[in-house]
Amino acid sequence: MNSEVERDEIYSVNMSGKNCIVTGANSGIGKQTALGLAKLNSHVIMLCRSEKRGEEAKRDIQNKVSDANLTLMLCDLASFHQIRDFVDKFNSKFSILDVLINNAGVYLTDYEETADGIQKMMAVNHFSQFLLTQLLLPNLRESNFSRIINVNSGAHRSGIIEKKDIPKIKTLEKTGMRGYATSKFVNLLTTYKFHRILEESQITVNAFNPGMTSTRLPRHSFGAKIMWKIIGPFIKSAEEAAQPLVYLPSNPKLKGFSGNYYDMFDKAKSVKKSYDRDLQDKMWEESMKVSELD
Ligand SMILES: NC(=O)c1ccc[n+]([C@@H]2O[C@H](COP(=O)([O-])OP(=O)(O)OC[C@H]3O[C@@H](n4cnc5c(N)ncnc54)[C@H](OP(=O)(O)O)[C@@H]3O)[C@@H](O)[C@H]2O)c1
Repeated sequence: MNSEVERDEIYSVNMSGKNCIVTGANSGIGKQTALGLAKLNSHVIMLCRSEKRGEEAKRDIQNKVSDANLTLMLCDLASFHQIRDFVDKFNSKFSILDVLINNAGVYLTDYEETADGIQKMMAVNHFSQFLLTQLLLPNLRESNFSRIINVNSGAHRSGIIEKKDIPKIKTLEKTGMRGYATSKFVNLLTTYKFHRILEESQITVNAFNPGMTSTRLPRHSFGAKIMWKIIGPFIKSAEEAAQPLVYLPSNPKLKGFSGNYYDMFDKAKSVKKSYDRDLQDKMWEESMKVSELD
């Protein structure tokens, strides 16, 4: 696959009857992904933490795609309790899940802890995603078309940690770019481990890097906000960044493609250390422990 994927090709697939969860679907790349999947006739479950922002985004999408099949479901991914609650509610309504786009993410400069005692950026960018995916695996197994995409970042390259640091990751003191990068690096480790575990199944798991995109992501950092304002016109729009997130989980040509790291439409290599299986296993164990799944 190369970056010459045509717009027509992206929107040529019919996903009618497919249940697709997009986390963080009210803003930026997630909202554009929800819109794109709605254009393919999927049933899009928009996981958002704010009812107001979620309803606004849902209305916007409906204004663009009048027959969009959208369900707004609320969940603050900084809370394990709310994630479990979300999955219970999902199960009471739908059961089968075809596509899970783990898109929600934050960039924080101050140290904050969740009610579960986890550094907030690490909780949202990694542990919540891990727990949500684990709890939804039975639903993904019910589909013959299951695809998981974890939205990562090129920043993972500067977030490398050693095995000895993993037990301390839950309360990692680093915030800002260093903490963000680490949250993306550890998430990549478990993305690859999910792939190894699910290799014999019909579920594919891939990581995706949109690259620098003009969104609200830097809003909690004064410096990053100013920088994004300056470079905004020269970097990708959220609509552009979301195109692979519509293409990768829907295109029949990619059936069975798993365990990859995509830079937009292109398969790329993530940082060498992310392929270290011992490190992946250790981060997996820690994620099981922290999310109380062991
Ligand atoms: N923008 C870039 O340059 C860039 C580059 C590489 C990777 N990424 C990744 O792309 C993904 C999407 O980010 P974006 O750029 O589109 O930023 P964004 O516009 O800020 O969108 C982030 C989304 O995540 C949601 N979210 C944050 N915390 C949450 C929580 N506790 N519970 C539920 N939802 C929560 C936000 O909801 P609220 O509106 O309620 O806060 C929002 O919908 C992230 O994973 C980010 O790390 C972005």
